[in-house]
Amino acid sequence: TNPSLLILPGDGIGPEVMAEVRKIIDWIGDKRGVTFDVSEDLVGGAAYDKHGVPLADETMAKAQEVDAVLLGAVGGPKYDDLDFSVKPERGLLRLRKEMDLYSNLRPAQCFDALADFSSLKRDIVSGLDIMIVRELTSGVYFGEPRGIFEENGERVGINTQRYTETEIERGARSAFELAMKRNKRLCSMEKANVMESGILWREVVTRVGKDYPEVELSHMYADNGAMQLVRAPKQFDVIYTDNLFGDILSDCAAMLTGSLGMLPSASLGAPMANGRPKALYEPVHGSAPDIAGEGKANPCACILSFAMALRYSFDMGDEADRLEAAVEKVLADGVRTGDLSNEEGVKPVSTSDMGDAVIAALNAN
Ligand code: NAI
Ligand code: MG
Repeated sequence: TNPSLLILPGDGIGPEVMAEVRKIIDWIGDKRGVTFDVSEDLVGGAAYDKHGVPLADETMAKAQEVDAVLLGAVGGPKYDDLDFSVKPERGLLRLRKEMDLYSNLRPAQCFDALADFSSLKRDIVSGLDIMIVRELTSGVYFGEPRGIFEENGERVGINTQRYTETEIERGARSAFELAMKRNKRLCSMEKANVMESGILWREVVTRVGKDYPEVELSHMYADNGAMQLVRAPKQFDVIYTDNLFGDILSDCAAMLTGSLGMLPSASLGAPMANGRPKALYEPVHGSAPDIAGEGKANPCACILSFAMALRYSFDMGDEADRLEAAVEKVLADGVRTGDLSNEEGVKPVSTSDMGDAVIAALNAN
């Protein structure tokens, strides 16, 4: 049977960047003979406009059946005053929750051509290619008790960092599986020096590591990890960390690479019957209402998200490599959308031209 993909373009620039991914899917069908069963549906404000909810039940059901979901972006000023329960991002949250996507993959990859867009010096980031795996469904954002309580005549705000062995272990397995598909190096980050959950984290990750003898496992305190990420980020390959530390470390790592328009992500869950994880791929950026409808958006984050789908959901790692190389080639040739063209004399190209340039680079290879 053909690999199946549910495409949810969403709002704002979502449909614009997704149109460029469709070109690549067609190209793979034509040139590689791999036909994807693609279905397309609404999410976010677009779904609210049609159904009165940001994700219809039928769409949710479809998401549970396919091999992978690819999402554009949701939200926009038109929906800012909606009731919380039907806000566009609730559609995204519903997908993550019901698919139980506990492992959030945030690559930080810095193509040489874009090294000058980084917040750091070129030498430190050029050629950077690391992956942060953040546990996404537990930890201090969800632990009980939580709330603001009265105590001794004043209020106290409480959140609880809580991790079960099962939660640590399933995320660790997904990180080790990734490490096996990459460079077989994994660094686990916690604060075992001051946190009980950190002690358990280190113990469980070490135990899971015994099942992956080929992977070189190291441990680092997360505060040192933050320092090392900006001092010498290329020392890392895969980083596995909890929800809170991962939130901060992945945003920090994102700025090593330059533009929001270049950053893909994946959220993975438990393996399905076919052995592949439940998966949702999406660019890190939002719906960019300030440029929506103008053909200015950079489609690379969405294209690179699809490359991640090829690698992690469809066992097409070679095609993923080729697609990433094509994006890199286009950038090296100086083809730039507006977000990447602050240099003198570089005329920005449109969303569609950028997609066409990637196709041309694929053809040239
Ligand atoms: P944003 O990521 O949409 O935009 C931030 C800035 O980056 C804007 O100036 C935008 O033009 C630029 N930008 C973003 N992606 C770009 C691309 N591919 N090419 C060129 N420039 C790009 O974040 P913002 O403005 O905070 O939020 C806008 C809307 O998006 C809000 O409704 C927000 O709730 C939603 N949002 C949705 C997300 C999602 O769907 N996962 C994530 C973040 C925000
Ligand atoms: Mg964040």
